[in-house]
Amino acid sequence: VKLMADQDLNNKKVLIRLDLNVPMKNGTITSDQRILASLPSIELALEKGAAVILMSHLGRPTEGQPESNFSLQPVADYLSLSLNQKVHLINDWSNGVVVEKGEVVLLENVRFNVGEKANDDGLAKRLASLCDVYVMDAFGTAHRAHASTHGVAKFAPLSCAGPLLAHELASLAKGLENPKRPMLAIVGGSKVSTKLTVLDTLSTQVDQLIVGGGIANTFIAAAGYPVGKSLCEPNLIEHAKSLINQAIKAGNEIPIPTDVVVATEFSEDAQAIIKNVDEVGPYDMILDIGPKTAAKYAAMAEQAGTVIWNGPVGVFEFDQFGEGTRTLALGIANSKGFSMAGGGDTLAAVDKYQITDKLSYISTGGGAFLEFLEGKELPAVAILEAMSN
Ligand code: 3PG
Repeated sequence: VKLMADQDLNNKKVLIRLDLNVPMKNGTITSDQRILASLPSIELALEKGAAVILMSHLGRPTEGQPESNFSLQPVADYLSLSLNQKVHLINDWSNGVVVEKGEVVLLENVRFNVGEKANDDGLAKRLASLCDVYVMDAFGTAHRAHASTHGVAKFAPLSCAGPLLAHELASLAKGLENPKRPMLAIVGGSKVSTKLTVLDTLSTQVDQLIVGGGIANTFIAAAGYPVGKSLCEPNLIEHAKSLINQAIKAGNEIPIPTDVVVATEFSEDAQAIIKNVDEVGPYDMILDIGPKTAAKYAAMAEQAGTVIWNGPVGVFEFDQFGEGTRTLALGIANSKGFSMAGGGDTLAAVDKYQITDKLSYISTGGGAFLEFLEGKELPAVAILEAMSN
């Protein structure tokens, strides 16, 4: 693909699609990671002498119904502070956008526009007409073929990839295409069903696959142990069994926890009890891996040549069920190999256990990170490739 870094942007109107879909509570931004990760492309555009128009989605509003709780105003305010210059939020750009060299404006939530999600050509053309150069830098939304991530690239005079997108793709390729062995993937989260494809794909690529969270419970059941009242998907037990058997045949490993942390209720002050995996009672809920298992997993992470982490291994929001994720996070932090993490919950854990600086690479993508791991083509990247031929 063409890179933004290689383009002449002097006196050009540059339209940059970012992923500024940040978590918010009552109008306050609770994690600025995606904004910080987006700053280099804005700064690069300014350095190159461009007039800068930014756009992003925020949340999942109803099309055609602008609602204030989905407004990007808090992000515009945040950017004004970070860039040390006023970033105006533009509500109505139907008659074009007035922006001078050295200025930065932000278009209001692209998902307020009818036709955004349907990738409507008319909308994509109107967006493209705002600029001389379109830059796609929203890695986190690269798995969506929307007007602002895909269609616009077809109609803009020039379309290219921004530095964040380029860095994410290069890092993922480094981790996956020629991985240092042993390669370890950790896939946690509540349900096997939402991560079935990624489990299937990774199980054929990695040497060791650690499953965590609710996903692990289905594997524990597949290994023949009781899971009590734990979150578990009985209809996927057979699938879990076949993944375990496949791994054994290939000389790979999908370890089953030997000890777990259980409680009889799911709450912030539930009492945590450590049990061997074969001692889980009918009223127990498995909410974390036990200390022996956590120590083993952490050692695997330390020794791995490549670690891919998506999803916590316990209910780490509650401290008494966070020890497994904490121990594992520290193991990953100590790994001498190439370590990468992605996904909303995973980043929250990376933040909580303060290992941000210890990882080789942290993705800004949730769904996009997973789809890349699944081996799927990201439509926003595919169109950039097509347009650069
Ligand atoms: C994300 O948070 O994963 C991206 O911003 C994409 O958001 P979406 O799932 O609403 O398309």
